[in-house]
Amino acid sequence: MWFVDNVSMRIVDAFRVLNLLPTKLVSLTMRFLKASFFALVALLSTPILSQFEHIPLTDPTTGIVFQSWKPSEHVTFGLALPRDALSVDAGEFIGYLSCTSSKWCGISLGGGMLSSLLLLAYPSGSQVLTSFRWATDYTLPVVYTGDAKLTQISSKVNSTAEDDYEIIFRCKNCLKWVQKGEEGTAGAVSTREGFLVLGWVRGLQEVGYEGERKCADEVLVGQHEKQGIFGAELDGGVVKEGKWEEWVGLDEGREVKGDCGEIKICRKRYEGRD
Ligand code: HEM
Repeated sequence: MWFVDNVSMRIVDAFRVLNLLPTKLVSLTMRFLKASFFALVALLSTPILSQFEHIPLTDPTTGIVFQSWKPSEHVTFGLALPRDALSVDAGEFIGYLSCTSSKWCGISLGGGMLSSLLLLAYPSGSQVLTSFRWATDYTLPVVYTGDAKLTQISSKVNSTAEDDYEIIFRCKNCLKWVQKGEEGTAGAVSTREGFLVLGWVRGLQEVGYEGERKCADEVLVGQHEKQGIFGAELDGGVVKEGKWEEWVGLDEGREVKGDCGEIKICRKRYEGRD
């Protein structure tokens, strides 16, 4: 990815120097160059091509139909989008994330680790906890401060193999991101382009916490052992035939972040009134 980013950047810079590229188009051009790179790789290599194509996946409990990709034997990521997502850029989606043999796993909605919205997920008892993160270097990502919101529609942790888990979730404001307080780090995914560049990771070491409570926004992870970037081509037919309104209706607004101190906040308010 470093290579793709750098080559794309050089081409964009060359156009900029020649004054051929308005600033507004820079990120669009970067995405186009990246997508072209992946498309080229796909053309040259049939096994990689199959990674781009979605695998239809219907959740047996909710009936939600996802386009899914399996970039690794142990990670499956699926998307259901608003019906007009190929003509109007979608701001949200219903996601499916299944990870096996992983203490934690994650998705980058922009492909790379840096300056993209990152979603970290891991099992905690019978729940799957999630946290949005942000990285400006290759160290532990901080909590994302933008307005993305994840609510779980369902989750499963395998009772005999707790490193196998999955979630179905609604992800609002997840296709555009800006880390508040940091300039020049905004980014977006255009569903209209019909092609997303996404990233995945798997951590094989147990997660940790600094204190007693198990809060996903405070969880500490080490460097993932496995990671990669994949292209996800959207199938317009599947998107148009989706039952988006019915499926988002299944969302009851359940945020599952573990013990993040709600009780403490209530107590503070109560003490404040006294
Ligand atoms: C302590 C925590 C972390 C460290 C030290 C770390 C470090 C790194 C390093 C060194 C790479 C480059 C690997 C290579 O090119 O061979 C990388 C790539 C990557 N990381 Fe992380 N990472 C951490 C956490 C995360 C998390 C939480 C996510 C997502 C939820 C993530 C997503 C990615 C992705 C998608 C890549 C591949 C794309 C790229 O190279 O930018 N990382 N990480």
